[in-house]
Amino acid sequence: MTNNILALEKVHHRYSITRDIFNDISLTIEEGGFYFITGSSGAGKTTLLKLLSSTLRPTGGDVFFLGKNINNIPQNKIYEIKRQIGYIFQDFRLLPHLTTYENVALPLRVQNKREKNYKSDVIELLSWVNLEHCVHGYPNTLSGGEQQRAAIARAVISSPKLILADEPTGNVDNFNSEKIMRLFSEMNKMGTTIVIATHDQNLISKSIVNRKIIEIYNNSIRTIEEL
Ligand SMILES: Nc1ncnc2c1ncn2[C@@H]1O[C@H](COP(=O)(O)OP(=O)(O)O)[C@@H](O)[C@H]1O
Ligand SMILES: [Mg+2]
Repeated sequence: MTNNILALEKVHHRYSITRDIFNDISLTIEEGGFYFITGSSGAGKTTLLKLLSSTLRPTGGDVFFLGKNINNIPQNKIYEIKRQIGYIFQDFRLLPHLTTYENVALPLRVQNKREKNYKSDVIELLSWVNLEHCVHGYPNTLSGGEQQRAAIARAVISSPKLILADEPTGNVDNFNSEKIMRLFSEMNKMGTTIVIATHDQNLISKSIVNRKIIEIYNNSIRTIEEL
């Protein structure tokens, strides 16, 4: 048995033949860990999250999710892995024809949960991320920071065992940024594995115990453990 939720083995990735993004990187994400992915703009943070979430298949090497090699999983079964991951997109990706409430409740509806059993949880979470005034609003009526908080709420509402967050505080003020980090920290204490991509050194220096930092540089990575 492994206690790794994710592992990359000698993963190579490029979008075009002229430039490698990753050259044979290996990495493990342990269950219950708290990770930051850092690197300059364009270094490959979003690409790494997409590889970790099976959104993108690498051009070489292997990705393992809970010990299973993703290369052996047919494309039409990949959703079974993705369903176990709460992914916060850098560009939010809320569905425009659904209200904030409906967007956040969507992962629960997909799991065939009954609204009477989750309605109050969704409202409570929305009020926790200070969106009670946007519950019935559509995404195009929300500010960038409000959309980001709705996207975070949607990713965490179903209590996935893994959260992958791409610059989750990039559009919010300090107050909400601290609240979001507190939410991730509390979820991590309950056992959720958290991986946050960010270029913001301030976010990393905030008090997360046992965090690990995955730094991307020169098409490669190194993991720094801080205790
Ligand atoms: N779909 C794509 N097609 C071609 N190039 C891409 C694509 N996505 C990202 N890239 C390139 O890959 C590099 C890494 O991008 P990205 O992972 O988004 O970096 P980061 O998130 O660290 O800013 C950038 O040079 C970017 O232009
Ligand atoms: Mg990015």
